[in-house]
Amino acid sequence: MDKNNDNSFARLVARYDEFKFSLLESQTFDPVHFGFPPLYYQIMESDRERVGAFQRAFAQYDFHDKVVCEAGVGRLALTRFYLPFVKHAYLIEHNPDLRATIEAMITQNNWQHKVTVLYADARAVALPEPVDVLVGEMMSIFCANEYQVQVFQHLRSYLRPEGVLFPQRIINLAQLAQVDFSEAPDHYPVNFTRHLPTLLSTQVVVNTIDLMTEVAHDATVDKPVTALLSGEVNALYLRSFVEVSPGINFTGTDSLMPPTVLKLSRSVVVEAGVTCQLKGHFKFGTSLDDAVFWIA
Ligand SMILES: C[S@@+](CC[C@H](N)C(=O)[O-])C[C@H]1O[C@@H](n2cnc3c(N)ncnc32)[C@H](O)[C@@H]1O
Repeated sequence: MDKNNDNSFARLVARYDEFKFSLLESQTFDPVHFGFPPLYYQIMESDRERVGAFQRAFAQYDFHDKVVCEAGVGRLALTRFYLPFVKHAYLIEHNPDLRATIEAMITQNNWQHKVTVLYADARAVALPEPVDVLVGEMMSIFCANEYQVQVFQHLRSYLRPEGVLFPQRIINLAQLAQVDFSEAPDHYPVNFTRHLPTLLSTQVVVNTIDLMTEVAHDATVDKPVTALLSGEVNALYLRSFVEVSPGINFTGTDSLMPPTVLKLSRSVVVEAGVTCQLKGHFKFGTSLDDAVFWIA
């Protein structure tokens, strides 16, 4: 490690605690236009794990002569991998702050002849023709904050019968946890592993969202979970695993679907080896603040 890196890392180590809730602040979803602050686009675009999963999935599909619709294109971080090959792409984005960037990138790459950009809410746009492919990375943990589920429910009506989706499936998982909430908000993504909660069980699958067939706008949870350790449970540790395409997966990083702590509506004491029931309810595309979970 060179001296500069060493110094940067030492500075980060000295400020670990200061950054405990920085991800939460940077990922705040704007309910007016559904977009994010510039720093969050930078976090997403610099994440090779996230971008690489889509790039690898796209590489396995033949985009030549295909008509594609992508919702929530952001700054074209994923789009640039397939756009050179397609016949036409309908690109949808609702954040007006991104307009100049999107237009400059299209012009620089000379993609104008094959692109229609729709600055609109992807849950309501009308497409003039059927599409072969639907792409959309508008995911948040449990799909609780963003409209991934609703957008695909709407746009898949334009998908040809043999059409494909990127991503295809989201599996939501939870683990019993114990957290000191005296200074913590009721939910927050974990930025560094030192900010992990104390975990008291293995993960259980809470629900699975098949984006080709999902019709619900919410999920009701009633799952058995066995404590591995005795103690007070006052939180869940949430994960979301994404199947971008069969065999190409993304299981969450700080940039997307970050493992997230969520306060339970009441705390309970569990005993190692005893099975309890995890119950709850959450809606897609609302807010994790509205999700309610408890142990029965
Ligand atoms: C998680 S970001 C991903 C951006 C880009 N796809 C990428 O991978 O870097 C989601 C993007 O979708 C946009 N978005 C969210 N909801 C939307 C909606 N209902 N209609 C259109 N765009 C939306 C946001 O403004 C944001 O730019």
